[in-house]
Amino acid sequence: SRVRHFKWEVKHEFKSPDCYNKLVITINGKSPGPTILAQQNDTVIVELKNSLETENVAIHWHGIRQIGSPWSDGTEGITQCPILPGDTFVYKFVVDRPGTYMYHAHYGMQRTGGLYGSIRVALPDGESEPFSYDYDRSIILNDWYHKSTFEQAAGLSSIPFVWVGEPQSLLIQGKGQFDCSTPGIQASLCNATNPECSPYVLRVIPGKTYRLRIGSLTALAALSFEIEGHNMTVVEADGHYVEPFVVKNLFIYSGETYSVLIKADQDPSRNYWASSKVVSRNSTTTNGLAILNYYPNHPKRSPPTVPPTGPLWNDVEARVNQSIKIKARQGYILPPPQTSDRVIVMLNTQNTINGHVRWSINNVSFNFPQTPYLIALKQNLKHAFNQNSPPNGYDFANYDIYSVANNTNATSSDSIYRLKFNSTVDIILQNANTMTKNNSETHPWHLHGHDFWVMGYGTGKFNMSTDPKKYNFVNPIMKNTVAVQPYGWTALRFRADNPGVWAFHCHIESHFYMGMGLAFEEGIDKVGRLPSSIMGCGETKAFLHRP
Ligand code: C2O
Ligand code: CU
Repeated sequence: SRVRHFKWEVKHEFKSPDCYNKLVITINGKSPGPTILAQQNDTVIVELKNSLETENVAIHWHGIRQIGSPWSDGTEGITQCPILPGDTFVYKFVVDRPGTYMYHAHYGMQRTGGLYGSIRVALPDGESEPFSYDYDRSIILNDWYHKSTFEQAAGLSSIPFVWVGEPQSLLIQGKGQFDCSTPGIQASLCNATNPECSPYVLRVIPGKTYRLRIGSLTALAALSFEIEGHNMTVVEADGHYVEPFVVKNLFIYSGETYSVLIKADQDPSRNYWASSKVVSRNSTTTNGLAILNYYPNHPKRSPPTVPPTGPLWNDVEARVNQSIKIKARQGYILPPPQTSDRVIVMLNTQNTINGHVRWSINNVSFNFPQTPYLIALKQNLKHAFNQNSPPNGYDFANYDIYSVANNTNATSSDSIYRLKFNSTVDIILQNANTMTKNNSETHPWHLHGHDFWVMGYGTGKFNMSTDPKKYNFVNPIMKNTVAVQPYGWTALRFRADNPGVWAFHCHIESHFYMGMGLAFEEGIDKVGRLPSSIMGCGETKAFLHRP
């Protein structure tokens, strides 16, 4: 194994990812930032200089478990204090598993500013994947807003509430095409011929097979991705091998990654469209477009066809069916423990707390503490956050998930779930109606520091006595992000075997910002000496000046 050393400078720059000029957060001048290429068991060191004028930063390595390095998880408020403007912070961690991962800002809603990129971990020399391909490519799908991160965040926390709305465009590997002739758009800010917003080109050689590593880091949108005329064989999900299956379009939620194989076996005299489309919301956002370019055709030559329109936005069944197809590839994933030590049912509801629109889990809306949990717990700073445990469930018998959320006693809290080290934990994500009549949304939940087995999906209210009998014990996939569908439930199981404090949250940026998240602690006594570089905020200031 090797050490991969990166030097990154994070800055604000004017860019036009979708032809509309705005301030974007770049890494070494780029958004998406550089792809981290490494091999299993390599050590990645990222020396990060924060050159944002007046803004803090923190970067999370999404899908990397940070075994033995919980302070490098990059979640501001949970594992570290923010990196101040002008400061340099060093992230150091081992990429212990091959697969497709991502990185992104994890400070407020900063991810929406464009601070994100891909991580690709290859097998060690001499080992091979259980499938073959000729070339490997990474693509990140995203949605894009013209309003600044601050304007969005301020609206969400205002009274009256101002929703961020649907994104202005969809980006494929950092490129999208907003329609500059949209009424109200200042002509000087939007230039349809700017090369920065020409469609992303994926060049292929006829006859070759490509492994496309597709990740989604959307702020809001659930997506469907497809390539005109080409089927995709799904072979990997969140770093785990999948029993291969073929799709025409791939549904992908924010925080998920997939590897698909495509073969360039169509008419080689032309190019083809690739497109992303918003599903699960009746969105006004136009589809994202990219070009699959068959060499030697000109990469800018438009395909002679109309781009695929994609599936219906409200076809929940098609999405659930695809999720159910995702099974562990035989021989590659440990089966889950037969029983669990603790079951936590998490009902998500939308409600108002002191006039603010918030999301809650079991009536508790998540608030970040001033002092990151990892430091507070390790240094025994008992006043740094609410020491009570958040509820293990909700009022099953009486709560109607189909009616407008009625939970006037919801509160905000920075309390956390403390798990017994090495125990097996079940999480049941239970979806419900929002504050709008007949409306329930899709939420992709992401767990830091672990992978979990996806034990099952269902519609309606989870039944404690009958539903666990339907769990998949044979070949459940392991993932780090999974969706809970409207009015449905999703059951996960994981082992609390990674000492540290780990975020678990909806990967929709605005939902997390509105309280849809929480943190788990396990094995804090086994966490090694914390680097002082993660300190400096809240009650941790005191530690900086000790010898
Ligand atoms: Cu990719 Cu806590 O997020
Ligand atoms: Cu959500």
